[in-house]
Amino acid sequence: MKMKQAIPACVMMLCAMAWGQNPPPSMVAGIPVNYDEAKVGTYTFPDPLMLNNGKSVKDAKTWWKKRRPEIVSIFEKQQYGIAPGRPKEESFEVVERGTPALKGKAIRKRVDIHLSTEKNTPVIHLVEYLPAAAKKPVPMLLSISFGAPSNSVDDPGLPVGEVWDIKTHAKIPANKARTFGKLNVEPVLEAGIGVATFYYGDVDPDFAEGFANGIRSHYLKPGETKRGPEDWGSIAAWAWGMSRVQDYFETDKSVDAKRVAIHGVSRLGKTVMWAGAHDQRFAAVIASCSGEGGAALSHRDYGETIAHLTAPTRFPYQFAENYGKWAGFPDKAPMDANMLIALIAPRPLLLQTGNTDYWSDPKGEFLAEVAAGPVYKLLGKSDLGTETWPAAKQPILHDLSYYMHDGGHGMVPSDWDVYVEFLKVHLHPER
Ligand code: GCU
Repeated sequence: MKMKQAIPACVMMLCAMAWGQNPPPSMVAGIPVNYDEAKVGTYTFPDPLMLNNGKSVKDAKTWWKKRRPEIVSIFEKQQYGIAPGRPKEESFEVVERGTPALKGKAIRKRVDIHLSTEKNTPVIHLVEYLPAAAKKPVPMLLSISFGAPSNSVDDPGLPVGEVWDIKTHAKIPANKARTFGKLNVEPVLEAGIGVATFYYGDVDPDFAEGFANGIRSHYLKPGETKRGPEDWGSIAAWAWGMSRVQDYFETDKSVDAKRVAIHGVSRLGKTVMWAGAHDQRFAAVIASCSGEGGAALSHRDYGETIAHLTAPTRFPYQFAENYGKWAGFPDKAPMDANMLIALIAPRPLLLQTGNTDYWSDPKGEFLAEVAAGPVYKLLGKSDLGTETWPAAKQPILHDLSYYMHDGGHGMVPSDWDVYVEFLKVHLHPER
């Protein structure tokens, strides 16, 4: 429990992080952690361009028709869990139509996304900031947040939201809760791109006991009291929530729903990796420090492993129950992060890491991206263009992009400059 509470506190902090400290913890949940490159040893990982039957994928058609669906199914069944589709009863309630905000730079809208007509179903409280000067539908950056919008955006005009209290498991006003740092909305707006955000706990609380209060319990079949081994974990639920926001964007005339990039940090970095991989309507992905279970290679034993992630005292509820089968046996797992990245192809992806975030294995994220390069190339896009891990503060910006800041886990203010550059190139706000 101690661990669960300590970690989110570091997320999005703008300074040195616990996990970036020297020396990093050598044992987590009773499982040793390797931070020594010399001890990583040799390893192999599955090839995204080899079909389950052992034949290789030589053309884009075989990728789209055969291999991509195979990989999606592996991740659904073995890692994140299978989520339902779009709910039939989904509806959008515009609670604020458009109010000048952020010193006149933005028009703020608020929309409640109802996921069912049943009472007590979770509701996503979405906030959008559109550039005040926009004359046409704008591209968007959708960031999934650890806090309610009133905590994650510097906007006194927002009503105080509600968040789950991890200790009492009850909802409390967001201004009584811990904050996780703010989204830097203004430079994105200045680039002609809108920003939207919602609280991840609106969809599913981030603790094992939260199941009954989250969206997943509404999908249990009659007689079931718990989910099955292939059913969705919280990360798949949060990603599903992002898709529901995309459903809404498709109805909002001020948004160009074909140009929506998604962003999240840490466990929400894992969430945006899966949301982008699974829902091809998202145009681009920025994953910050997603680490193990996200963009870092599991077959490489460095920092956190599947065993640490799925240890009973840590985060098994965030994944399909099946994921725990690979704890201690990552070499047997039929999937790895290179395949997850390949599912995002040909759409642009930026992996943002930190050079002292050893726990999340920034090098393992880079190597996964290198290994996904052949899929980007097969689909006519650019790979990273190098196999040499760059030093901190040297962004590589292609269709596959990588940036490591000088510091620990989470985002630092200068990361936003790289985000904006990436978004400008790929979302074409000038159009
Ligand atoms: C823990 C966990 C990571 C996760 C992080 C977070 O550190 O081990 O996998 O990314 O929490 O979300 O804060």
